[in-house]
Amino acid sequence: MIPVATPIIDEEEIEEVVKVLKSGFIAQGPRVAEFEEKFASCVGTEHAVATSSGTTALHLALLAAGIGKGDQVITTPFSFAATANAALYVGAEPVFADIDPETYNIDPEGIEELITPSTRAIIPVHLYGQPADMDPILDLAADHDLLVIEDAAQAHGAEYHGRMVGSMGDAACFSFYPTKNITTGEGGMITTDNEEIAEMARILRAHGETERYNHAYLGYNFRMTDIAAAIGIAQLGKLEDFNRRRIKNAEYLTDSLRDLEGVSTPHVAAGVKHVFHQYTLRVPGSRDRLMKFLNKRGIGTGIHYPKPIYRQELYRRMGFNASCPVSEKAAEEVLSLPVHPALTDEDLERIVDSVRDFFGQN
Ligand SMILES: Cc1ncc(COP(=O)(O)O)c(C=O)c1O
Repeated sequence: MIPVATPIIDEEEIEEVVKVLKSGFIAQGPRVAEFEEKFASCVGTEHAVATSSGTTALHLALLAAGIGKGDQVITTPFSFAATANAALYVGAEPVFADIDPETYNIDPEGIEELITPSTRAIIPVHLYGQPADMDPILDLAADHDLLVIEDAAQAHGAEYHGRMVGSMGDAACFSFYPTKNITTGEGGMITTDNEEIAEMARILRAHGETERYNHAYLGYNFRMTDIAAAIGIAQLGKLEDFNRRRIKNAEYLTDSLRDLEGVSTPHVAAGVKHVFHQYTLRVPGSRDRLMKFLNKRGIGTGIHYPKPIYRQELYRRMGFNASCPVSEKAAEEVLSLPVHPALTDEDLERIVDSVRDFFGQN
């Protein structure tokens, strides 16, 4: 079986973890501080705050930015549920804007009409590793005095017109789940140039403590461990190489599949560095059949995502609805193929041959 995603862990990560285990500091300690410093320097922000997951990074970023009850945040429904759940955690209301049919990222054109006096923030997601169209989003936010929190969970190392993903909004959130471009097992990171957001995120990450046993706020335990950070430091050193391999694999797949009728290969917007967290085909009419065909041939696939977030049972029950026809259609037609750096040339050939076989165009 060729998995749709796999972490790449070698001796370096193992040795670094062993060093931590022998050091006596296994919870949040010096390795977390080192990972934060290196990650901030990689993204080019003043601050980075490590967390226990991408989800807790989003939760903390919204809290630290002062978003809460009565506030609305505008985001995309075509994402992992955690993006919108973060708004619910803080008592805010996610409001869904439809996506661009080619990049699957939030369409800036649909945002303005959703802005109300309660709107506090926009949360664009850099889906599949491709940066959202940030310039019009940042302009809208400036015009309406809104915050921008980037969900960069899938886009470590991606760039938008020369700017690093994670450095453009008021804050940004990354995930280090094992399927992501780099991993720490579980883990997350907030990046920001805003000192107050960073400081508040640090306080709320550790029980709202401003001093030991002085709890000024209702905080959480959202800390990363030094064990995870040691893996993260080793992985960060390989991010550029991992991304280069993802991009090369994606180029091979696109070159080999772009002439196929019945399939659209991924569109890369002008001026961006897409880091191919996912390589997602669009397969109108035959997505599910292609998926079964590939799975039978031992090729893992993924559907990111099978329904817009507002159609999830939780959101239905809470009374959410939205009209996002582009997202609805994408949810029926997208299929992600393996693109990760562990693929061999033979794996890639097998993937291409199988997709072409399905369409009888080999
Ligand atoms: C777009 C997006 N946002 C948020 C998350 C949440 O990250 P985590 O799984 O690390 O909590 C993920 C990843 O799963 C994601 O893909």
